[in-house]
Amino acid sequence: MDDTLLMIPGPTTVPKRVLDAMSRPIVNHRGPVYGEILEETTAMMSEVFKTDNESYLITGSGTSAMEASIANIIEKGDKVINVVSGKFGERLQQLTEVFGGESIPIEVPWGQAVDPAEIKRVMEENDDAKALTLIHNESSTAVVNPIKEVGKIMKDYDTLFVVDTVSSLAGDYVDVDKYGLDICLTGAQKCIAAPPGMAAITLNDDAWKVIDNVDSSTYYLDLKAMRKSGNKSPAQTPYTPNVSLTYAMREALTMVLEEGLENRIQRHHTGAIAVRSAAEALGLELFAREGDRSNTLTAMYLPEGVTDDQLRGTMRNKYNIELAGGQDHLKGKIFRIGNMGITGLPEIAATITCLEMTLKELGFEFESGAGVAAVEDAFLKN
Ligand SMILES: Cc1ncc(COP(=O)(O)O)c(C=O)c1O
Repeated sequence: MDDTLLMIPGPTTVPKRVLDAMSRPIVNHRGPVYGEILEETTAMMSEVFKTDNESYLITGSGTSAMEASIANIIEKGDKVINVVSGKFGERLQQLTEVFGGESIPIEVPWGQAVDPAEIKRVMEENDDAKALTLIHNESSTAVVNPIKEVGKIMKDYDTLFVVDTVSSLAGDYVDVDKYGLDICLTGAQKCIAAPPGMAAITLNDDAWKVIDNVDSSTYYLDLKAMRKSGNKSPAQTPYTPNVSLTYAMREALTMVLEEGLENRIQRHHTGAIAVRSAAEALGLELFAREGDRSNTLTAMYLPEGVTDDQLRGTMRNKYNIELAGGQDHLKGKIFRIGNMGITGLPEIAATITCLEMTLKELGFEFESGAGVAAVEDAFLKN
């Protein structure tokens, strides 16, 4: 089990340095030692988000930050425009409804990115909306949405621009201040390569202005409480944080910054090209529309006559490689390969080699070695 290669879109392989950091003794979470570690970690978080805003860590998975982003800005009846182009866009819509908001969905066919012109059109009709939510990298479909272009449009409106970068931050371009993202959230276990269980959120002054006028109905995820505790000296969190995961986040973010954001994004780019071109060389059809494809994972259709159980089961049981299946109506139709975090040439080459062997065993025909050759090409040329 220890040898399992995680090629799913998170959680991803956690580097030893990060695992080791978690073995440090637990300290008082209200004392100066933890306060310094928290301050260092949130400062690095802001650096990775590319913002002058404060950032906050939340003990919880990515969904906790999604929930915080909605629960703190809306009251009953508030309009929120939700771009729904996959499972995670749908989750922000569900959260809007759970907290009493009126969702105005922009439905996008799964496998495609939203058209910024559609955002403009809907904003013109709903400029009283409290927020517009968008998933940067829709992990359920392996599609990247154009947050930079949408950010330019949103600058003309008072509506908050809320962006989920759970599966893109540190693996694709996110520039919170330049793109005009009012609220941006992420998770630990994807391109940052920390263990699951921690999320982060950053907010600008426009977002705080809204939040300060909302009587929010969340307790644990109250951002005003997070700000108050964060401003204490030493810095704190409102409730007991996962101290070990804070150590892990600090180490993982240090590694991100040591590598350099640009280098890390380029490395993800090469990985995504390698997986995509290998899939195509094997005759597998990619799910996401050309031009909209993610930098951090690839989704492809299962070949005719091959079931999800057969393909992912063989990869798991025979080769110890975990791939992800499809979600909702895509279950049994597509499978997904992540190239997040520290995943590089050795992991991708091994995955494609074993995918070739699996497909061959399952009777799917292709030119032997074509996928591996495509991986080599991608790494030589990019
Ligand atoms: C884009 C995106 N948003 C949100 C989430 C939810 O994160 P978590 O599963 O950590 O709650 C995920 C998880 O896969 C994701 O990919």
